Amino acid sequence: MHESQGRQPDASFDFDGEYGADYRALARRVIPAYDQIFKIGLAALRGVVPREAEVLVVGCGTGAEMVTFGRAEPAWRLTGVDPSAQMIDLARRALEEAGLRGGHTLHRGFVDELPVDSTFHAATIFNVMHFLPDDGSKLSLLTSVRARLRPGAPLFLFDLGGDPDSVEFAELHGAWERFMALNGFDGADRDQFLGRLREGMHYVSPARTETLLAAAGLCGITMYFTAFLYRGWRARRAPEAGST
Ligand SMILES: C[S@@+](CC[C@H](N)C(=O)[O-])C[C@H]1O[C@@H](n2cnc3c(N)ncnc32)[C@H](O)[C@@H]1O
Repeated sequence: MHESQGRQPDASFDFDGEYGADYRALARRVIPAYDQIFKIGLAALRGVVPREAEVLVVGCGTGAEMVTFGRAEPAWRLTGVDPSAQMIDLARRALEEAGLRGGHTLHRGFVDELPVDSTFHAATIFNVMHFLPDDGSKLSLLTSVRARLRPGAPLFLFDLGGDPDSVEFAELHGAWERFMALNGFDGADRDQFLGRLREGMHYVSPARTETLLAAAGLCGITMYFTAFLYRGWRARRAPEAGST
């Protein structure tokens, strides 16, 4: 059914286990501009999509994007998708605590289970793609999302990338580790996290990301954010079939 895009992160990142419950606190210490990245996405979409936009949030996790978007744009209808029961539960609670439950949808599962009816005015995939291997899984997810976007609709990505064999990767990784230490994330906890990264990350170079986005039928591919190994990409579904 979803042989490739349906693959969940490796066991080192178990979003239904201890890691999932701790995710948001950890993210704030290790991800540069975590929280701000959701506002960046909001600013990019606001005014571009209609007032009552349908927005797809892929890998909604604890609901950070959905709460940021829903609070600022009460007329948007958000659809969060995530295969982790624990994360869907955390997202549901976050929406409820923010008073945002009505009008939004949480789907425990995968994007390819949603109807292919070009519903969405925009989509986000934040902190998800780096968990998927480049064995067709990354491309399959992008292709599934593109099929559910309206013609011309934007997609915003944000995740880790780079060529692990390059000098630049080693330098940026070192800087990123020092950034974690500056945020008080050091010692055994950080070492354990770095071990998870070594086992569970599926990095691809920026050039490969651009190739994957284009292969999925997206155009207008632009990098909008970079910090250490994190990059944000914007792309959009072609306005009309066959056009670029
Ligand atoms: C690191 S969390 C990011 C959550 C949220 N986007 C954020 O930035 O805070 C990654 C999420 O992606 C989900 N995920 C993993 N594989 C997925 C897939 N194939 N499709 C959708 N979500 C997936 C995980 O269950 C997890 O909740």
